[in-house]
Amino acid sequence: MTNNVKFIDLFAGIGGFRLGLEQAGMECVFSSEINDHCKETYFANFGERPYGDITKINANDIEDFDVLSAGFPCQPFSISGKQLGFEDTRGTLFFDILRIIKEKQPKVVLLENVKHLIHHDKGNTFKVIINKLEELEYLVSWKVLNASDFGVPQNRERIIIIATKEKTFDFSKLQKKKRVYLKDFLDKDGDFEYLDPSEYTLIDNPTIQKSGLIFAGYRNKKIRKNGVRPNTEHLSRVHKQPNRIYSVEGVHPTLPSQETSGRFYILVDGRVRKLTIDECFRIMGFPETFKKVSPLGELYKQIGNSVCVPMVYELGKEILNQFFIENTQTTRRGKVQVKEELQGDLDSYRRFAVNL
Ligand SMILES: C[S@@+](CC[C@H](N)C(=O)[O-])C[C@H]1O[C@@H](n2cnc3c(N)ncnc32)[C@H](O)[C@@H]1O
Repeated sequence: MTNNVKFIDLFAGIGGFRLGLEQAGMECVFSSEINDHCKETYFANFGERPYGDITKINANDIEDFDVLSAGFPCQPFSISGKQLGFEDTRGTLFFDILRIIKEKQPKVVLLENVKHLIHHDKGNTFKVIINKLEELEYLVSWKVLNASDFGVPQNRERIIIIATKEKTFDFSKLQKKKRVYLKDFLDKDGDFEYLDPSEYTLIDNPTIQKSGLIFAGYRNKKIRKNGVRPNTEHLSRVHKQPNRIYSVEGVHPTLPSQETSGRFYILVDGRVRKLTIDECFRIMGFPETFKKVSPLGELYKQIGNSVCVPMVYELGKEILNQFFIENTQTTRRGKVQVKEELQGDLDSYRRFAVNL
């Protein structure tokens, strides 16, 4: 009943949105992505090469769709929240999302960004985004969601903005899952890159943080000096991100897109090794069958830029539940009933006519 809900995949990357929304039962009718390596990965996995630069795409050329999805790059606007129309955002990639929305009027807009978007440019960026969507007569709701609530062992907070036509999206209906831990997502075997014990220091009695992270130690690289109090080496914030070591008994910190050499170190069975690229894809919820066709540095970038697939799946399911299933059933019921009633009327008219 929902297999004809169509979506478009903007800023598609390697297709995290596509995977999650297709799993939820939607159909992708268009995608756009500018980066050649991402396009290759996308093609290898979905058999379609995304259209390129979104700024060059004419909205009229896009097939009609119901849901617009986009994990767009965060850029400042030179305007403040309350001003004129969406034209003010011209020159930013968000403007291109707006002009496609304005032209195509999708029922649902699903946007994803880093949590920091709320504070970006002292809150102005976020305010502009919400106001411009409202100016296009959408009802906007948003929430910060964590991948670790959706069945993957990664502390990855992202803001999700959902703009809709008839009623607001109800985030409280999302089904969250029990926390899972990194130890259950590791490769069974492989050529692991272990560190020599002389290269790191493990701390005594590491504790689990509320987020599920367990800071277990650090690589013996330069420790920050500025503003660091003596005897605080046991605190994760004293160490630069690529020097931190986390225990697999907890969850993993956010995989960032800037880390192209995969310096993610984990403590497993008393030894420290790098997280493998397959493990990175797994803790974003990508299927084992996903084809990784780019050079390793690009793959680290791609997965760090992507989106937690099971989180998108849950969002997709709830979007269908709240905006399409009830409506589709109503429309269907409407159509079927009306057809049956008409048929009934026609039959009785015929009977009536025969009796004339
Ligand atoms: C945060 S990533 C989104 C990743 C995606 N959600 C995924 O699952 O992989 C933003 C993407 O926007 C792409 N991008 C940036 N500028 C673009 C443009 N002008 N047109 C199309 N894509 C663009 C980048 O190459 C990048 O892959």
